[in-house]
Amino acid sequence: MPKIKQNPKIKKLLYSTSKISKMLNVNKIRKDFPILHKKINGMPIVYFDNACMSLRPIQVIEAQNQYYNEFPACAGRSNHKLAKRVTEEIIKSRHTIKKFLNSKRDSEIVFTRNTTESINLVANSLGLKTSDEVITTDKEHNSNLLPWQAAVKKRGINHTIAEFGNAEDLKKKISKRTRLVSMVHSSNLDGTSIDAKDMREMIKIAHDHGALVMLDGAQSAPHKEIDVRKLDVDFFACSGHKMLGPSGTGILYAKLHILEKMEPFIVGGDTVVDTTYTTAKFEKPPEKFEAGLQNYAGIIGLAAAAKYIMKIGRSNIKKHETRLNERITAGLSDIGGVSIIGPGEAEQRGGIISFNISEKDPHDIALMLDQTANIMIRSGAHCVHSWFNAHKMKGSARASLYLYNTEEECDAFIENLKKIIKII
Ligand code: ALA
Repeated sequence: MPKIKQNPKIKKLLYSTSKISKMLNVNKIRKDFPILHKKINGMPIVYFDNACMSLRPIQVIEAQNQYYNEFPACAGRSNHKLAKRVTEEIIKSRHTIKKFLNSKRDSEIVFTRNTTESINLVANSLGLKTSDEVITTDKEHNSNLLPWQAAVKKRGINHTIAEFGNAEDLKKKISKRTRLVSMVHSSNLDGTSIDAKDMREMIKIAHDHGALVMLDGAQSAPHKEIDVRKLDVDFFACSGHKMLGPSGTGILYAKLHILEKMEPFIVGGDTVVDTTYTTAKFEKPPEKFEAGLQNYAGIIGLAAAAKYIMKIGRSNIKKHETRLNERITAGLSDIGGVSIIGPGEAEQRGGIISFNISEKDPHDIALMLDQTANIMIRSGAHCVHSWFNAHKMKGSARASLYLYNTEEECDAFIENLKKIIKII
């Protein structure tokens, strides 16, 4: 693949962090992220793949290291000093996540490995039976699609697709058999979110039909205020790795009375009070859903990430991302042949810009940006193959922003994009 030389003007812009965001202090934030101070092939990186995986601040890395350095033991079992410290830290971490989602009780927070595991837990523990129905939307990523396809095969349920964010369509499709409506809160495909008014209406429709509601918050929890009580959702699933937290950490929020009735998913150590060779008496939630020794360092790191985000404020993060998205959207409008997936207005797409340029292969766009300018985006179907197949599209190039991204990086992205499309 031919290489292009980086425009010195853009390079200068890229290094400059002189502009301070009106909403948050980006310069200060960037200091917390070690990877942003490293160079690859002599250049800094521009990380625009945040919808897939966010970077981690030093506070999260140190919180994890502290576990390994100071109390690397198990929680909830042994009675020695190190174990007691781990138990205390996990209790504190659960409380932090309770605050992050504004749940009523700490016991409504179950630690999982990621959103995918949280949704699988619900799919397997809700006691779904033949002819029960689960409704999802046409914009689900595979994590909120495959668990239901599996339930169709294993349990004989019906799986119905409603249009994302469309309360009227939900009204048409919901029935007395619907046990659960499970919807993506913010789409990783195009950044759109279910509008608050529509959300209220849809949750009411579901509850009026006796159905439960789950929100897949993988893309919303890192970027917008979440109040599970105000939303009145029954389940909320999200991942640590998209919200500055460690990989392999996730959250399932569920109303306590629902968790109490659910069967455990993965069973084993620490989920039980007592066993005989043939029987088991299970713990109360959340412990009955957290089998085996846990990712203690990860959970502690996840709480550090939640604290970091709460300190900056998700409404500030959202405003910052919207402003950057507006800049990129304006820049893209200068490039012929660009089509953005989703609404034209940046404000409706959060921190996501998913686009195609004429017939150009999105993978070539992503590869060239990376190879020539260390600009990292994602290309392909973004785990939403079903939507792309339904729309007879192969995929898109996707830039996704977060709190540490800058206007200079947005300009560098546009300038480099203009250069590489002349070559590919
Ligand atoms: N769903 C994740 C993404 O959008 C993996 O990249």
